[in-house]
Amino acid sequence: MSSNQLDKKSQAWSALFSEPMSELVKRYTASVFFDKRLWKADIAGSLAHAEMLSAQGIIQPKDLADIQRGMAQITADIESGAFEWKLDLEDVHLNIEARLTQLVGDAGKRLHTGRSRNDQVATDVRLWLRDEIDTLLPLLADMQKALVDVADRNVDTILPGFTHMQVAQPVSFAHHLLAYVEMFARDAERLQDVRKRVNRLPLGAAALAGTSYPLDRERVAKTLGFDGVCQNSLDAVSDRDFAMEFSAFASITMVHVSRLAEEIVLWMSQNFGFIDLADRYCTGSSIMPQKRNPDVAELARGKSGRVVGHLMGLITLMKGQPLTYNKDNQEDKEPLFDTVDTVRDTLRIMAEMVGGITVKTEAMERAALKGYATATDLADYLVKKGLPFRDAHEVVAHAVKQAIASGVDLSELPLATLQGFHASITPDVFDVLTLRGSLNARNVLGGTAPAQVRQQIARHRQRLA
Ligand code: ARG
Repeated sequence: MSSNQLDKKSQAWSALFSEPMSELVKRYTASVFFDKRLWKADIAGSLAHAEMLSAQGIIQPKDLADIQRGMAQITADIESGAFEWKLDLEDVHLNIEARLTQLVGDAGKRLHTGRSRNDQVATDVRLWLRDEIDTLLPLLADMQKALVDVADRNVDTILPGFTHMQVAQPVSFAHHLLAYVEMFARDAERLQDVRKRVNRLPLGAAALAGTSYPLDRERVAKTLGFDGVCQNSLDAVSDRDFAMEFSAFASITMVHVSRLAEEIVLWMSQNFGFIDLADRYCTGSSIMPQKRNPDVAELARGKSGRVVGHLMGLITLMKGQPLTYNKDNQEDKEPLFDTVDTVRDTLRIMAEMVGGITVKTEAMERAALKGYATATDLADYLVKKGLPFRDAHEVVAHAVKQAIASGVDLSELPLATLQGFHASITPDVFDVLTLRGSLNARNVLGGTAPAQVRQQIARHRQRLA
């Protein structure tokens, strides 16, 4: 192959081809305009491979020095924007390799010894994804910290807890927020687990069957910070389960974000009026002057759709593929890139926005007073007086019916009226009919009693420190 042959990818294969690739096919098969994003990983992978080739005596120390010099130049050019990406050279790998050969000659052509783009691309995507995971983990921690901070100021803030979107029982707003902290904590745990399986080295698998050169794969893995080496060459070049798994993590995380976003939208609406968002997170309407819309929360909710869509895309991409590498796999990148970008931006903006919410304590409490949220407490009170729970439930249903008819809260029914429902009711009943009495009573591990919530906040603070 002459030194300038790689300039034209249509000639890169061999003399076997009798006509150049059509322009349409070239554009259809090229990936450089999106996979150039992998350039850093591609160069890191090539340098680690070259160092190992030299240490194993497969290339000469002079070749390694030339490769290192050329890659330093290429790195500088890409960073400055001077690097010229060519569609003719199809992808990030061929673009960088061709430029290297242009810069340093034969050493550039020796770099691909014992390697194929199949194990190269699998390595690049894993390296890139691992580093992205390492930037997402702190963002998940920030999200949790923001929620814990708001929770800390709102242990004694009471709002109605809902089931079926109907007022159920009063809960501490801090407790409500800490539910999301639990979700994001599990997301972080999941991501850490995904990282283990992302962080394994495919290089050395070559095209599919391994290579006849005496490579030291463990050495390359160590240089690149991989936890281990893929143990089967066919699997190494073909599967993308690490990408699917990451997307599953991302989808679950976005579903959690979306649920929180949905609550923010509801709480912000005039009908709830539980919170307010800072103006910088809202937009106005071009026609209705009174409007302040929670666009950020709505978009976060909406963007969960594209992330879940990417998961479906990746899974579908793999399902019909026979071993080993197929060009289908080139389609793994755009969904993966967009997933990372979307999750990163969403976590950042949501953490910021949540950290700055204004909590309207009185409105929350007023809402908790509607809907007979302490009815369960009255039933529990009767159980403590000796009634079987099912009977107590029935007694309270009558009391609630009466309260509804009179348009008052349970705590506003006169003692004599309450005693009409059951003789065992005494004046201490009013302690359990208040919102605070109801909260304090739920002093079980994981419950909403302020004492429990404070312990949880302390646990989270320690965990996130
Ligand atoms: N651009 C390709 C991809 O993303 C690189 C690997 C190409 N390998 C091949 N045998 N055509 O998967």
